Amino acid sequence: MLMKEKMPLMSTTPVPTPSAAITADSNRKRSSTTKVKGDRSKAQAGAAEPSAEPATVPEAEPGETPKMRAHEVSVSYGDKQALNKVSIDIHDDRVTAFIGPSGCGKSTFLRCLNRMNDTIPTARVTGNIELDGEDINSSAMDVVQLRARVGMVFQKPNPFPKSIFENVAYGPRIHGLGSSKAELEQIVEKSLKRAGLWDEVKDRLGESGTALSGGQQQRLCIARAIAVDPEVILMDEPCSALDPIATAKIEELIHELRGRYAIAIVTHNMQQAARVSQRTAFFHLGELIEYGKTSEIFTNPRQQRTQDYITGRYG
Ligand SMILES: Nc1ncnc2c1ncn2[C@@H]1O[C@H](COP(=O)(O)OP(=O)(O)OP(=O)(O)O)[C@@H](O)[C@H]1O
Ligand SMILES: [Mg+2]
Repeated sequence: MLMKEKMPLMSTTPVPTPSAAITADSNRKRSSTTKVKGDRSKAQAGAAEPSAEPATVPEAEPGETPKMRAHEVSVSYGDKQALNKVSIDIHDDRVTAFIGPSGCGKSTFLRCLNRMNDTIPTARVTGNIELDGEDINSSAMDVVQLRARVGMVFQKPNPFPKSIFENVAYGPRIHGLGSSKAELEQIVEKSLKRAGLWDEVKDRLGESGTALSGGQQQRLCIARAIAVDPEVILMDEPCSALDPIATAKIEELIHELRGRYAIAIVTHNMQQAARVSQRTAFFHLGELIEYGKTSEIFTNPRQQRTQDYITGRYG
């Protein structure tokens, strides 16, 4: 399916995201050398007989280390448990899709990956999540830096009520990424180009971001995330408010971006999951039911509940 050449990783200039709470500037730590081996990986051996066994983690390719690793992550909101012991690896150069019926915990899990659940007072997260082998929930982790490294794009495009240029320049500027005007302009141009929006907006960078079409706004939000130099991009139903043409553009963009960033995307659209992802995780009632290669999940699921969901029996 996706046969794109791997592109070089982005530079490692430290910058947090503009959407995160803005605090004092600090240097981003990148422990790209700290790796954790795939000890939990288990091959999903055997025939495709649907079973009630818990989800297994897909076997890593030889030599691969996950960019992010979630181990037995549980979340409750007050007394209500929303997620139960979910273990998933997120890989560089790969798109991981989260699917499942409404309320099954997809967004909750996605939010764990950059600690957005910290912003929900009733949320309690347990388990372990690592980014390049670092525990993201440890007190040593700067959450602002984390949210720059693990950027997020939401369901509804949410540009700031500022110019197109400012939407992209805001994060880099407040964290001192572009020290000169020219540098900042370069970052804005590069980010808008990567988000596939440059040609459409290059002559109107001073206009308000909110004046763009929905699809353009979503690409602006992607440019905004890219501008602070993330390693992982989380997308929560990024196309659900878009028309089919704008959706196709975002999907094309996801194809292009996956060579630079690890991407996790929540989607209700089975065709979209099949088109854009290489790994799919199926959630149901707060449990990870099945996680594996997208091609296998959609053609040969191991679990009856996955089969029922992808064939439209519920959800
Ligand atoms: N802020 C919150 N406070 C309390 N409960 C919440 C909160 N956010 C989510 N929940 C509950 O947690 C469970 C999982 O919700 P979540 O939003 O993660 O599901 P989802 O799979 O993303 O659903 P959808 O497909 O509708 O977006 C649901 O029962 C939901 O009601
Ligand atoms: Mg959701």
